[in-house]
Amino acid sequence: MAFHSKYVCQQCGYESTGWLGKCPECGTWNSLVETVVSTTSNKGNKSSKSNKGISAKPINLSDIKSSATKRISTKISELDRVLGGGLVSGQVVLVAGEPGIGKSTLLLQLSDSLSTNHESPATVLYVCGEESPQQIAVRAQRLGVKNKDIQLLDDTDVDSVIGQLSSNLQPLTAIIVDSIQTMTTSDLSGMAGSVGQVRECAFRLLKSAKEKGCPLFLVGHVTKEGTVAGPAVLAHIVDTVLWFEGDKTLTTRVLRAVKNRFGPTDEVGVFEMQDKGLIEVADIEKAFLDKGMKNVSGSIVTSVMQGTRPLLVEIQALVVPTKLVIPRRVAQGIDSRRLELLLAVLTRRCGLPMYNSDVFVNVAGGLKVTEPASDLAICLAVASSYFDKPISGKTIAVGEVGLLGEIREVVAQEKRLKEAKRMGFTVGISSREIKFVGQAIKQLFK
Ligand code: TYD
Ligand code: MG
Repeated sequence: MAFHSKYVCQQCGYESTGWLGKCPECGTWNSLVETVVSTTSNKGNKSSKSNKGISAKPINLSDIKSSATKRISTKISELDRVLGGGLVSGQVVLVAGEPGIGKSTLLLQLSDSLSTNHESPATVLYVCGEESPQQIAVRAQRLGVKNKDIQLLDDTDVDSVIGQLSSNLQPLTAIIVDSIQTMTTSDLSGMAGSVGQVRECAFRLLKSAKEKGCPLFLVGHVTKEGTVAGPAVLAHIVDTVLWFEGDKTLTTRVLRAVKNRFGPTDEVGVFEMQDKGLIEVADIEKAFLDKGMKNVSGSIVTSVMQGTRPLLVEIQALVVPTKLVIPRRVAQGIDSRRLELLLAVLTRRCGLPMYNSDVFVNVAGGLKVTEPASDLAICLAVASSYFDKPISGKTIAVGEVGLLGEIREVVAQEKRLKEAKRMGFTVGISSREIKFVGQAIKQLFK
């Protein structure tokens, strides 16, 4: 097959033989992406069968065997949970995360468990474009991985990797490509990591993995801005997108499914990065609780839902008198606009003059909380710091706060409170007990 490439605008479909910064047709900047054109087949991503008019016959839904979605357990229960019970044959999983978060560590541990704990023969092919085999070996040593069934392939040419896959006589349990940004094909002239290269390489690997029915893991880097070619470009062609996140200065890591064709997307897996690799955190309810600190003002525990699991997190606040005309509001782990709104409610509805204080709010453990269910806890933590009166460590607050200062019921409220009770929290503050934040503050601090 012969290939050449052209540049296609991702917004309007305008085609050009060379790269242009701005599309002459629709005027969008940076929208032209190098794309492979094969001169023999019909389209890059269509099988050549479609030339003949009929390419596939309809199949009766009831005739499709469910064994096609049999799950392969990864033996890492937190990962299985995120995948929705295990891997499906031919499943393509994108593991995205910031550099240094632990993607390679997770995948090396996965290679180990996939190849040791399964029936023979079970080989995992680890394509290491990012690091040298020696570097991987150092990591393996650190993790205590001594597996003979992990094959390392030091190659960045995607076509040669695919050739390797076809010539590999042993059946593979999984293929791992670390990372997709280092893969290139000589059919495109763009650099490794450019949108065109990333997309084409991923597509070729995916096709090959699907043909073989072998699960494929692609590692994709994201930067803080999340703009570099990678996860965003690949999300729609892979089956599953897992985000690996966490505060790099802390040890807790959260694996989250943001897309999953074979399972739920709201599950999370929690790991801890230790000196011997990632350890699963079993009692995740407590993972984000700061243990030990008692009787300090400005802190309260709330419960956030992570998929079907409630998670206890500590909200911390610090209120400091300010001389600034526009006081500072610093929010870590929560939306800063939400914080502004809640401070306005506290000022107007609860009589706490927040306009002459700097307010800092932090979610302990580096977790990001997006649910309004943490509103009440944020308000109470701020009030606690303002009055400098601690809240009992056995208190849990769950509730959304409206602009009228009312406390609203949240999703799965009963479940959260019950779970918290099981973990030893004796005082619950929610819409069930109290109707307004102002009342709750009065009860707690006056
Ligand atoms: P790595 O898996 O290389 O990250 P990524 O592939 O996402 O870029 O992990 C990098 C960090 O993890 C590195 O800063 C060191 C730390 N680490 C540990 O703390 N313990 C370990 O056992 C290993 C292997 C790494
Ligand atoms: Mg890595």
